[in-house]
Amino acid sequence: MNESLQLLQRYSTPAKMLNDPAPDEAQLKKILEVAMSAPDHGRLRPYRFIVIQGDARYKLSNIFGEAVARRDPEVDPAYIKKQRDKPLRSPMIVVVVARLADNPKVPEIEQLHSAGAAAHNILLAANALGFGSIWLTGDNAYDPFVRDELGLAGNERIIAFVYLGTPATELPPRELPAVDDFLTYWD
Ligand SMILES: Cc1cc2nc3c(=O)[nH]c(=O)nc-3n(C[C@H](O)[C@H](O)[C@H](O)COP(=O)(O)O)c2cc1C
Repeated sequence: MNESLQLLQRYSTPAKMLNDPAPDEAQLKKILEVAMSAPDHGRLRPYRFIVIQGDARYKLSNIFGEAVARRDPEVDPAYIKKQRDKPLRSPMIVVVVARLADNPKVPEIEQLHSAGAAAHNILLAANALGFGSIWLTGDNAYDPFVRDELGLAGNERIIAFVYLGTPATELPPRELPAVDDFLTYWD
């Protein structure tokens, strides 16, 4: 067995430890090609990707701040600041959006799985190219105001904010739980 199987090295990097450089355009397109190789019942391609980098992150920061204040007008200003700071932690964010089609053979849940698999492929491809990544959501991902501001249509859902960049430091290898605790053979 190959102990160094690269897939076993995948881990998330905290967003605040993701620095410049982000993937360049060619690297980003390669990462998104891998995303689009995810399994997809009916070849619906039930996703799209919104890349937010550079100054556009400040627009997302404003949106996050306003979203929090709209959800709770009494909110502590410190919490608003915390939310506003989130998009500024990393040089690039890929918003993975599921686009749900009304399809008699492919239920919504399968389309969401497909978009989720695409999001995970972004993590794998980014790691394979030497970048760090983390899949984040939080209340903002499900907030109608955030969805509207990002231009999502009624049939679209935010699956992930994938933060990307170069890890500030290499994280130590981590222990995974024993597979045997999650495995049964049914006969
Ligand atoms: C759908 C989804 C949403 C997530 N949202 C968050 C989040 O909002 N905040 C967070 O700290 N981790 C979130 N995570 C977990 C991280 O992406 C990551 O998996 C976790 O920190 C464990 O690190 P690891 O990937 O190295 O095992 C989410 C994961 C998934 C699959």
